[in-house]
Amino acid sequence: MTPVPASERLILALDMADHTYALETVEKYSDYISIFKVGLELFTSSGPTIVDAIHKYGKKVFLDLKFHDIPHTVMRAALAATRLGVHMFNLHASGGVEMMQRCRDAVVELCLKENRNRPKILAVTVLTSLTRDTLRDELGIQHGLRTHVRHLAALAMKAGLDGVVASAREAAIVRAHCGGGFLIVTPGIRPSWTPPDDQKRTVTPKEAIREGADYLVVGRAILQQPDPVKALDLIRLEILSA
Ligand code: C5P
Repeated sequence: MTPVPASERLILALDMADHTYALETVEKYSDYISIFKVGLELFTSSGPTIVDAIHKYGKKVFLDLKFHDIPHTVMRAALAATRLGVHMFNLHASGGVEMMQRCRDAVVELCLKENRNRPKILAVTVLTSLTRDTLRDELGIQHGLRTHVRHLAALAMKAGLDGVVASAREAAIVRAHCGGGFLIVTPGIRPSWTPPDDQKRTVTPKEAIREGADYLVVGRAILQQPDPVKALDLIRLEILSA
């Protein structure tokens, strides 16, 4: 797999409901950002037209809908995401190998048949808002968080997916287990000057790169700052200096 270009490493999360505001944001940051993330809030309120609209700006879309359902349903959703022409989309590794594998196979087949670019398919491991205690006390997972992330990443690799979404705190363990070509996308990014909000396993941009993250997903640490452009600049500098 070719290395991720530096200009693509920072993904901006469009965590908002309004279609017009989302596109204004794309326009405002288009000199600095190549990939914009469309998540549950924006997709649910604006629908698939938001993806087309972002593509019209010449930008790529990470469709972050975290599919998690029976294999057939997720496979059909994956085909719909592929037809939208997104650059990457994700599903929960905890949906199991059959779910992930059927998705991948169906997407590969569709892309060959219709001569489309194949989107990168990523597996969400353990959400960056969860802790070791949540896993044990609420979800009944007895082994450690890193072990669980490694286990889910191994399942994603077995299913032939392109990579995972994880905290950069687990990037090194995923890299060691899954090798160099496996993509690691890390949300939960917080520079030293921002609060963690609801994220628990946060990492600074510099540390994330050093730990081996390929992509950094950032939302509030840019868009909720008093001076978002300055915040973006500082984060870009941090990434470059790493
Ligand atoms: O504002 P903040 O930078 O915390 O936003 C992180 C974004 O990454 C949100 O859109 C969230 O849905 C997403 N995300 C996450 N943890 C994951 C996968 C995606 O925080 N494991």
